[in-house]
Amino acid sequence: MESKAKILGHPIHPVLIVFPLGLLATSVIFDIVALVSHAPRWAEFATYLTAAGVVGGLLAAVPGTIDWLAIPRGTRAKRVGLVHGVGNVIVVGLFLLDWVLRRETPAAPPPGSIAAGLIGLGLALVTGWLGGELVGRLGVGVDDGANLNAPSSLSGRPATASAYAGGERRHFGQPAYAGAERRGRGV
Ligand code: HEM
Repeated sequence: MESKAKILGHPIHPVLIVFPLGLLATSVIFDIVALVSHAPRWAEFATYLTAAGVVGGLLAAVPGTIDWLAIPRGTRAKRVGLVHGVGNVIVVGLFLLDWVLRRETPAAPPPGSIAAGLIGLGLALVTGWLGGELVGRLGVGVDDGANLNAPSSLSGRPATASAYAGGERRHFGQPAYAGAERRGRGV
């Protein structure tokens, strides 16, 4: 089902989620680097990454919620989306806790803040998988009628229209590998 929150013909949510996922995961990695290398500046970098990731997570939640609201009730997608959304709000909350606990001492974060980040990242792996389930398996955020020859999202035409209408159809009507495939099958 088609996304309701789009930019340039594409869903906004998958565009924005790269920021919280990348920033928050990297903050945990930098904390580990700080612990292993005993170089406090990595923990300081991690503190700033955490703050930016929390802001990114809050922004990404807006189009995600808009898309979730449009999913029909009683479907598996609605339930998976709810667990995914609530889970991700908890993830953002854990990283907010991480930041609150370390903001006064960014280069020397207390163990509780590092633990909150680790738990948050672990939970994000589960909620991220659920996000993939929503898109790849349940078709949420996928244009109705999406297919391998759909025209550009910027064309203003539905995905069901052919990209190769008119003269182009004459050139591309057969897949480029059609001959080889036929030969392989011995036909
Ligand atoms: C705030 C942190 C969030 C992160 C990091 C996140 C992450 C993800 C990921 C990784 C996907 C799969 C994208 C893809 O495979 O293209 C996804 C899809 C989705 N998420 Fe989230 N999500 C967040 C918040 C939310 C919230 C609060 C909701 C509301 C219920 C939500 C609803 C959805 C929906 C409906 C989809 C299907 C695709 C779409 O509609 O764009 N997400 N999310």
